[in-house]
Amino acid sequence: MELTNWKLDVDADHFAWLRFDRAGSETNTFSSEALRELGRIADHLATMPPKGLAVLSAKENGFAAGADIDEFTQLKDADEAIALTVLGNEVFDKIAALPFPTVALIHGFCMGGGTELALACKYRVMDDGPKSRMALPEVMLGIVPGWGGAKRMPKLIGAAPALDLMLTGRGVDGRRAKKLGLVDAVTPRRHFENAARQFLMKPPALHHPKLSAAITDWPLVRDLVAKMSAKKVAERARRDHYPAPYAIIDLWKDFGGDVRNVPREHPASTASLFFHPTTKNLIRIFKLQERLKAFGKQGAEPVRHLHVIGAGAMGGDIAAWSALRGVTVTLQDLAPERISPAIKRAADLFRKRLKQPHLVQAAMDRLIPDVAGSGVAKADLIIEAIVENAEVKRKLFAQIEPRMKEGAILASNTSSIPLQDLSGVLKRPHRLVGIHFFNPVAQMMLVEIVEGPSTSPGVMQAAQSFARQIDKLPLPCKSAPGFLVNRVLSPYLLEAMLMVDEGIPPETIDAAAKDFGMPMGPIELADMVGLDIGWAVGQELAKPGSPIPKKLQALIEAKNFGKKTGKGFYTWVKGKPVKGSTGPGTLDLKALADRMVLPALNEAVACVRERIVADADLVDAGVIFGTGFAPHRGGPIETIRARGKQEWLRIMAENKAKYGLRFEPDSGWDSI
Ligand code: NAI
Repeated sequence: MELTNWKLDVDADHFAWLRFDRAGSETNTFSSEALRELGRIADHLATMPPKGLAVLSAKENGFAAGADIDEFTQLKDADEAIALTVLGNEVFDKIAALPFPTVALIHGFCMGGGTELALACKYRVMDDGPKSRMALPEVMLGIVPGWGGAKRMPKLIGAAPALDLMLTGRGVDGRRAKKLGLVDAVTPRRHFENAARQFLMKPPALHHPKLSAAITDWPLVRDLVAKMSAKKVAERARRDHYPAPYAIIDLWKDFGGDVRNVPREHPASTASLFFHPTTKNLIRIFKLQERLKAFGKQGAEPVRHLHVIGAGAMGGDIAAWSALRGVTVTLQDLAPERISPAIKRAADLFRKRLKQPHLVQAAMDRLIPDVAGSGVAKADLIIEAIVENAEVKRKLFAQIEPRMKEGAILASNTSSIPLQDLSGVLKRPHRLVGIHFFNPVAQMMLVEIVEGPSTSPGVMQAAQSFARQIDKLPLPCKSAPGFLVNRVLSPYLLEAMLMVDEGIPPETIDAAAKDFGMPMGPIELADMVGLDIGWAVGQELAKPGSPIPKKLQALIEAKNFGKKTGKGFYTWVKGKPVKGSTGPGTLDLKALADRMVLPALNEAVACVRERIVADADLVDAGVIFGTGFAPHRGGPIETIRARGKQEWLRIMAENKAKYGLRFEPDSGWDSI
């Protein structure tokens, strides 16, 4: 049989070994060609037949990443989309029906279609390494696990845990997968062959969920589980914004998890989901994320030793995150008592993320308090995160530069100071770069990599690679005030605060933003980030003549900085804002949202015009990954395109008539 994407061998014991090796790619993805080939292999094996079959990957990075996204973005119409889902189902059903034992051997990532193929095998063995992950992340792209995942996973592990995985898209490692019953054994990859032989020679009873999990798939309990799941989903996503999680619940509850049973006009059907604008935007965001990842790919040497100066809110968390990701970190501040809160927070982070005590201990060992600053001389990279004051930063740079290692890089986490204002004191200004993290560091994926006028290309590349090394998304930016993200976010926050001054309740403003699709309202966000920080950034970015929000000013004067002081626009109790009603309900939330969002859209247009990042797509990517800007809308520029430039300009003119020059369109609108 001629095969291009798979390798099939049958050994002397009559066991078949089928290796997935997608042609022309480092990563296994299921193109329709690869699926068809697999279907032919299944037909062939069914007629041979061997004593057993092991399915594994020939690629280093993992088992399979799922469907070929490039292929399914080129699907022309619903018929083509349906044909692809039917094909996937037919092929995996053939694997499931093979009349001999089958085992999937899973290492690295096993996503979407990869997991669905593994589920179609009778047994699954997973590598125990830290990079191994199984997931059904389709929901993140606005679609459903439609190649049998939604059908087989609830049967295998119980509906409630399966829905949890399908609705969040979350990945599980070997330990967790074994606990859930998703895999039958966990072992290092080097033992895969032995493990496979054991399953194929003496096939044990097939896995069934425990009664408590199985019960959740029973017809009478199903409605209740579906209701509870929908309620949980509704806390995070509205159906009109994100139809896919609701579709997953319907698919499981009413159609046995099989997309072929869903009528074409039903909102959970392939035809409805594939061409929904949210799906288009989520897929685009996924691709943009891949583009950001690629910025860090060009092999600069990995950073082995990072030295962080300033153990405050940011420096402490940057140090902790980097240690979590395997880097040795020395952490410097003016006194030990300034470092200890950061170490405590780091311990919490390690416990939460790593769970196993020996891994937590190893991460703690990598994070070294260093008041004397002896790490400066040894570090490959130094990140400065001290107070936002150019003079103080310059003084520090002048002190440390002579002690830095040859070839080491100096980075600043400054939010607003242009690098050119800091590099003057350096003998080698080409090695200064901005590495701008977002708060909270552990949650925000984006890192702006800021290029000053003297920064060398090699240093830019090394900073981008470092961001990838610690699993962040690098975005190369020009060194202009606010870079990209704060610059776009600031006028939005300002407009929201000016609304508070007009007497509009913060609750109403936040509700309007959430209706638009923001993950959190601007007032709550400002309180959370810290009003003092927002104030400082706002001052830096304020345009001549732009108004100062009075309520904000009063809060700052009273030292009510938001969440961290327990009081800001909201009162904060146990880390949560106490919210009242959203007001009399006479306000048009959509108009409020338009008014708030427009200044951000306008600034995004200015950033495209000034080429703060390379192009409009990267403006969208940066604003989404740096602020959480309504992902289903695809970012600010896509938001403009979706409703139409002329319509936005019309609303802008209306607002300009009421509120003045801050609604003056940027000259860049012409070329959007
Ligand atoms: P912070 O006030 O929490 O921490 C600053 C720390 O630096 C303090 O612990 C202080 O003792 C220490 N420090 C001051 N001078 C020092 C020196 N000469 N040597 C060693 N340590 C010194 O400040 P935060 O919020 O962590 O900000 C730090 C930097 O990060 C600033 O440049 C800020 O603009 C930037 N940034 C802040 C964000 C935020 O949301 N807080 C977000 C992104 C960047």
